[in-house]
Amino acid sequence: MSNTTASIHRRPFGNLPDGRAAELFTLNNACGLSCDITNYGGIITALRVTRADGSEVDVVLGFDNLQDYLGPHPYFGTIVGRVAGRISDAKFHLEGRDYPLAANDAPNHLHGGPGGFDKQLWDADVVEKDGIPTLQLSYLSRDGEEGYPGNLRVKVSYSLNRKNELVIHYDAETDKATPLSLTNHSYFNLAGEGSGDVNDQWLQIFSDEIAITDTAMTLLGTKAPVAGNGNDFNKLRRLGDAIPQLLNHHGDNHFIRRQAHEKGKLLATAVMSDPASGLVMTTLTTQDSVQIFTATVLDGSLTGKSGKPYIKHAGMCLECQACPGAVHTPELGEIILRPGERYDHTTVYAFSNALCP
Ligand code: BGC
Repeated sequence: MSNTTASIHRRPFGNLPDGRAAELFTLNNACGLSCDITNYGGIITALRVTRADGSEVDVVLGFDNLQDYLGPHPYFGTIVGRVAGRISDAKFHLEGRDYPLAANDAPNHLHGGPGGFDKQLWDADVVEKDGIPTLQLSYLSRDGEEGYPGNLRVKVSYSLNRKNELVIHYDAETDKATPLSLTNHSYFNLAGEGSGDVNDQWLQIFSDEIAITDTAMTLLGTKAPVAGNGNDFNKLRRLGDAIPQLLNHHGDNHFIRRQAHEKGKLLATAVMSDPASGLVMTTLTTQDSVQIFTATVLDGSLTGKSGKPYIKHAGMCLECQACPGAVHTPELGEIILRPGERYDHTTVYAFSNALCP
């Protein structure tokens, strides 16, 4: 390895149609983990892990140029907000007012709307936090943007530590009450992006309940236990066997098993593994739930950065977030940020059986 200290390098990544310049940041933990992130949509474009045998694998789907990200794609690696997932019927009611939203996934509102955080150019700073170089992206979402109330100041920071963890921290403040649930929409394939589907990889989720949807994936406002059902991932399961047992083969919003005194604590949520290489990724989060998405929308028509088509189930999203159904049904969790409060969440993707001290 040429680098002995963690670093972040920045370089130009092309221009948006309005002329603004995007940048690409390469984070390196100096022991075999590196990550490329652009300030357009906060997209993680690559996440390279050095496996125990010294070979390198890029475990996230995506493109190597801005142009492809400006075209249609299913949120590869993006920050999603203001609310990740579907708001049923594309509207909500808060503090005596109705808020209509774009039904960009009719009849629902999906991933913050057509001009969501994934389509914004974020301000970028390289800072040092706890001695680790950190990429800090900031964005001011103005009152009324995509139909949501309040001027919302959001910061998302990314760092790689020597424990081989990608740490994503979300921070926000608002001047009016607003629903808020931010996530990252990376599609993971531990055998390498473009290597085919994830059927031979395994998944475990520490969850007893899911949010019920209909076949349009509209959240119906209730929970159901997973025990005895096809969406019970409490034991490690081969994805090729598990996916056909999921509604629409899609994946559900799982509530993370968490005791009351563990509120806001970073807990292990899911473990994904590739038995062929031994690489294991543990997802930890302070959020209440994780939306599993098996990349049903991919059909081979998008070609990834290594020139290979992304086929159905070419990756797996583990979107740590609040349940968006909480906008209508408070029993599904907390999702409203109010003035004077601080939104403060962390999600960690930790790699083991990889090269690192
Ligand atoms: C949703 C899917 C959707 C995908 C891409 C996921 O978070 O659960 O239903 O197709 O994002 O938009």
